[in-house]
Amino acid sequence: MFPFVVAAPRFFSGAIQLGELMQISSAFGQVQGALSWFVDNYSSLASWRATTDRLTSFEASFTALAPARATLAATDSAALETHDLSVALPDGAVLLAGAALHAAAGDSVLLQGPSGSGKSTLFRAFAGIWPFASGTLARPADAMFIPQRPYFPNGPLRDALAYPEVPANYTDTQLRQALADALLPHLGDQLDRFEAWSQQLSGGEQQRLAIARVLLKQPAWVFADEATSALDEAAERSVYQRLLDLVKAKHGAMVSISHGPTVAAFHNRCWELQAQPPGAPARYKLAEKRS
Ligand SMILES: Nc1ncnc2c1ncn2[C@@H]1O[C@H](COP(=O)(O)OP(=O)(O)OP(=O)(O)O)[C@@H](O)[C@H]1O
Ligand SMILES: [Mg+2]
Repeated sequence: MFPFVVAAPRFFSGAIQLGELMQISSAFGQVQGALSWFVDNYSSLASWRATTDRLTSFEASFTALAPARATLAATDSAALETHDLSVALPDGAVLLAGAALHAAAGDSVLLQGPSGSGKSTLFRAFAGIWPFASGTLARPADAMFIPQRPYFPNGPLRDALAYPEVPANYTDTQLRQALADALLPHLGDQLDRFEAWSQQLSGGEQQRLAIARVLLKQPAWVFADEATSALDEAAERSVYQRLLDLVKAKHGAMVSISHGPTVAAFHNRCWELQAQPPGAPARYKLAEKRS
């Protein structure tokens, strides 16, 4: 555009040469070409802008949460122990306040409470991944959590089973044995099958795959959040017996969330989240229930 503006007065006064006219035309073409790049790439630029905006706000949210997260680092210990443990929701509502808990090796503790009372959230706090918790927390580092909705990466079955480790850490014999112990023997010859396992497997099969993961890695402590809720009674008993045998052999302990009597029978202690009246410091109180 610039050369055209400079040359225009001379062009109209008749003083411009043919060569200069061609130069002006070429320069104009280049400027027009450069400007049309923005037009041609407008949708890509808009999508890039949206992506960077999302990442920027994600980073800002993370930074805002960082101080709360730092208050509940779990220290390694032979037992599970909390002092003055408070668990809240992102909106500030307090689910649990000032809880003092203790579970030692050899214990098998059932955590009960109404739906929505915060059982899974308490497990997240035990795992050190719930940012709205404060107090002190100590627990064995050699622990595994089976979440209420386990995650499986898309890909070969052996990857889903070994996740988050790499499958090369285990032999095929170990992987097959874990599947068989978790009542999935029919998947033993499909270790290299590539699937979206969270969509392919039934709810009960996904639960058994999550349990197979624990039986493969052999932690001393297991925290199981409704880990067998989709299984029939006989299967529930069978896999729970395996989990209990594992933690006993490793001198660890079991902490479970369950609503059913089959799982309850495998535990010798019970913590109950009891609803508190309005105005109480927290919505629930954690009490040891004597059977
Ligand atoms: N990420 C989150 N953001 C906001 N609120 C949440 C979040 N996760 C859980 N909550 C809320 O915290 C409360 C406790 O949820 P939690 O999943 O711990 O309950 P629960 O006792 O495990 O219930 P259930 O027996 O149905 O599994 C619920 O009211 C839930 O809506
Ligand atoms: Mg839950």
